[in-house]
Amino acid sequence: MSSTEKRGGFGGKLAAILAAAGSAIGLGNIWRFPYITSENGGGAFILIYLGCILLLGLPLLIAEFAVGHNTKRNPIDAFSTIRKGWGWLGAMGIFSVTLIMGYYFVISGWTLNYAISSATNAITGDYGAFFCDFTTAVWKPLLFTYLFILANHFIIIGGVQGGIEKASKVMMPLLFVILIVLAIYSLWLPEGREALGNVFTPDFSKVTGKTFLDAMGQAFFTLSVGMGAMLIYGSYFKDGTKIAGTAISVVSLDTIVALTAAVIIFSAGVADQSGMQLAFVAMPKVFSSMPLGNLWATLFFLLLGLAALSSTISMHEAVTSYFVEKRGMSRGVGAAIVTVVAMLLATGASLSLGAWDSYRVAGMNFFSLLDNFTAIVMLPVLGILTSIFVGWVWKKEDMRKELTAEGGVDAATYPVIRFLLRYVCPVLVSVVFVCGIVAFIRGL
Ligand code: TRP
Repeated sequence: MSSTEKRGGFGGKLAAILAAAGSAIGLGNIWRFPYITSENGGGAFILIYLGCILLLGLPLLIAEFAVGHNTKRNPIDAFSTIRKGWGWLGAMGIFSVTLIMGYYFVISGWTLNYAISSATNAITGDYGAFFCDFTTAVWKPLLFTYLFILANHFIIIGGVQGGIEKASKVMMPLLFVILIVLAIYSLWLPEGREALGNVFTPDFSKVTGKTFLDAMGQAFFTLSVGMGAMLIYGSYFKDGTKIAGTAISVVSLDTIVALTAAVIIFSAGVADQSGMQLAFVAMPKVFSSMPLGNLWATLFFLLLGLAALSSTISMHEAVTSYFVEKRGMSRGVGAAIVTVVAMLLATGASLSLGAWDSYRVAGMNFFSLLDNFTAIVMLPVLGILTSIFVGWVWKKEDMRKELTAEGGVDAATYPVIRFLLRYVCPVLVSVVFVCGIVAFIRGL
């Protein structure tokens, strides 16, 4: 393929880690993880979640990096280069990540409005009503969502090194600094320390089948696995980048950020709030009663926005790479198509919360449909298929070489990863998938 030579790539190991950590660290860590944790009994859930990250998430992330790095191709060509006739698996990932963009961009747009409104002291009165008025309106949420998508567009057309790498090197350190400042502040509050002790104490009486489902779902979502985003980043790793080491760094950073976000949110005493309400209603309310409340609120929404932006550029890039490498378009044209498609889907998702709320499928508006379909169906299915592909379809010798020669996995660790990918991932994730579907249908 001729475009291989002019393919972009990350400049070095740090860039690879920051970009991939940027993809992983997102709304999933800062907004979703804390409330799912408190819904499921705090400390007990965290232990199960960490188990899922180590046994399922990490091997899958290594697998996806390996497929990308080995082939240096877009998701479709990557799978079909390793085994002819498997390109559809990459296509499924691209399809799923496109759907995720549809609703993820909407929430990302909200963070922008909330950061600006917090800085200008515009959120007043009833926080629930403010949220409801804003999200169900027609133009205002759309405007912020479009702005956010355009920010993605300009980073993506800057190229892999000039756009994604540069942006990650600015955004990720900033994100870590804001996170640390907020964490120190929340631990300094006495009620914070107390709330924290309560939530992190494991309460095994709250552990049910659903706890395991939630833990695995969260582990997959937070690591962005199965959707081609990590694959495309893996394909940009410089020769000599250690796959397993990079994956371990990404997983560690992702976990540290999730736990720190939980500390911040629990110490604000709002862990009992869930869903959208937590980040956009309960947090502003807490901040409003603190000294320098506007500053903390602005920092918090800036943190959410940065986390969202570094995740969405990996989604955008996975799909853009398809148009550039498979369809032979220029980067500008490919990116423009993705941007327009994302805007169309996001328009539907945003309006489905207000004006178009009456159009429903199985009781769900378009926003929830995108969310539930990708989380309950596509994420586990892609996890199962990716582990089967790497564990069973990829020629044993080729995979071993990829992981042990350049990947940096030693001969003793390699069989463990292979075992997890061949047996543990497909079986456990299938169980989750079936249970998830059953639980979902029961809940309808
Ligand atoms: N990991 C992201 C988060 O925690 C969300 C995500 C899920 C994602 N799948 C993805 C990001 C695919 C990029 C690509 O918020």
